[in-house]
Amino acid sequence: MCGIVGYIGPKEAVGVLMDGLKRLEYRGYDSSGIAVLENGKVTLRRAVGKLEKLQAVLLKNPLQGRSGIGHTRWATHGRPSEENAHPHIEGGVAVVHNGIIENYLALKEELKKEGAHFKSETDTEVISHLIHREIKNGKKLAEAVRRAVSRLKGTYALAVISEDEPDKLVGARMECPLAVGVGEHETMLSSDITAILNITRKAIFLQDGELVVITPDGVEITTFDGAKVTRPATHIDWSPVMAEKSGFRHFMLKEIFEQPRVVADTFRGSVIEEKGDVFLNNFNMRAADIDKIVIVACGTSWHAGLVGKFLFEELAKIPVEVDLASEFRYRDPLVDKKTLVLAISQSGETADTLAAVKEAKKKGASVISVCNVIESSLTRETAWSFMTHAGPEIGVASTKAFTTQLVALYLIAVRLGRESGRVSPEFGKTLIHDLVTLSKKIEHILDSAGRIEALAKKYFHFRDFIYLGRGINYPIALEGALKLKEVSYIHAEGYAAGEMKHGPIALIDEDMPVVVLAPQDASYPKMLGNMEEVRARGGRIIAVVTEGDKEAVLKADDVITIPAASHRLTPLLLTVPLQFLAYYIAVLKGTDVDQPRNLAKSVTVE
Ligand code: F6R
Repeated sequence: MCGIVGYIGPKEAVGVLMDGLKRLEYRGYDSSGIAVLENGKVTLRRAVGKLEKLQAVLLKNPLQGRSGIGHTRWATHGRPSEENAHPHIEGGVAVVHNGIIENYLALKEELKKEGAHFKSETDTEVISHLIHREIKNGKKLAEAVRRAVSRLKGTYALAVISEDEPDKLVGARMECPLAVGVGEHETMLSSDITAILNITRKAIFLQDGELVVITPDGVEITTFDGAKVTRPATHIDWSPVMAEKSGFRHFMLKEIFEQPRVVADTFRGSVIEEKGDVFLNNFNMRAADIDKIVIVACGTSWHAGLVGKFLFEELAKIPVEVDLASEFRYRDPLVDKKTLVLAISQSGETADTLAAVKEAKKKGASVISVCNVIESSLTRETAWSFMTHAGPEIGVASTKAFTTQLVALYLIAVRLGRESGRVSPEFGKTLIHDLVTLSKKIEHILDSAGRIEALAKKYFHFRDFIYLGRGINYPIALEGALKLKEVSYIHAEGYAAGEMKHGPIALIDEDMPVVVLAPQDASYPKMLGNMEEVRARGGRIIAVVTEGDKEAVLKADDVITIPAASHRLTPLLLTVPLQFLAYYIAVLKGTDVDQPRNLAKSVTVE
């Protein structure tokens, strides 16, 4: 969490840094700050709260300079306050940091004994002191940073400027992402590539244990041991416009509407319709070599994994376990070299997921991933990655990343099924046909946005919701409830509908709307039964059903329809109206939809 950015070049640094921070704000928004070299002096502006607060400070007290660093914070050590906001300055050295320094208390004591005076409660401030100490002892900036990081235990991406060497910026990376944007006579550092897109689409991704010195015309990477690293720049497909709202009121709404396109982008290039098969570049897993699949992920990505279990078990006939990454890593999980571990993550930077992957690798498992961000830590940690083509997801609540993850899992399941012969070419053709007709069906659901908005007006004042689903749609009940709670702050629970009678039914009364997922599939009759149970206790039912439904509509207070689809893809279709419902309820409640309180997009702390 936290976003860092740095700029050196011919432009006014403040504009570039603020633009970058705007794009990084989803990573954390408790406070923000920038430091610019103004007339040779490191000059600071910081503010508590969202970026607009910093903008206001800068309007009152503008800054000028051609190089600087910026930060948007998700508080870990120390409450959100101006003193705790980054950058942290010591003796002409300014530092921004993403990550956690585990040994900061010991370092602080050591520095205090030498007379250092600390101004904040953060772990980061020890870094500016350590670098300054080295500079005082005659070291050049890059060497000072190298020596400072050799004392750190923990995770970090850093950007550093110093009054002593105003012609450069230094960055360093350990387990937190850091990219270098290589422009025409201008260079940037950033936590992720969305922040550099306005100056360049050429990026070099730092790896753990690397340090970089940037100037307007140069990038020099070395390992922490001082060995030179040569790495070509990668061309980024994402455009600046993709990371903007393009006329939508919120990123979340824009990203919901992007789904027909990004879903198609994700399967396009992989499906071979005439063969009823899927082509996955460099994927050479064989079902016969796999005893079981273990899926690890967090949050919404974990929900995708739960759907994946149904797909893999049905199509590839391989047993699947789905684990929360944060649980998996703290057990002694039973995985070995016959286990295929599949990690799912939009950002590729979720600390728990990365730790689970490392644990699985230690035990000899083959580890692959589904991820949305190229060159992220996850794609580097895993032997093979399927890249979803959701494009930059800026809204903190995941929408299009989730539906593209479902597509990715479907593709991998079909491939394993075809490879093992469990899916025949004929059946393969049906499966692929179902997939390629999906985007049109999502488009059709988008047309019902207005109706769902009207429904939101009826329901936004309720304080609790229950979501019910069965089988492959149970994870969608979980996902619908998660979406509602995170963006509207309304308490919501997702349940497997069959579990109702084992406890949750006690909650049902007229104050409890129940969202029932009842598409036409094998469990439809059972869902009708659940609806009766809710009705009998006075609960209000919002049913999501297949178009043309005759029975569920009679039992529900309100109905949302989705087009008919194979049961394997219905989860994806059901997701879209639930995203709308959460979104419109949140808008009516006046919450901060794109940046809900207490959350951050990439959860890089454990
Ligand atoms: C919810 C949401 C989170 C993420 C979770 C994992 O809308 O976005 O629950 O799904 O933090 O993040 P990734 O997928 O980046 O590993």
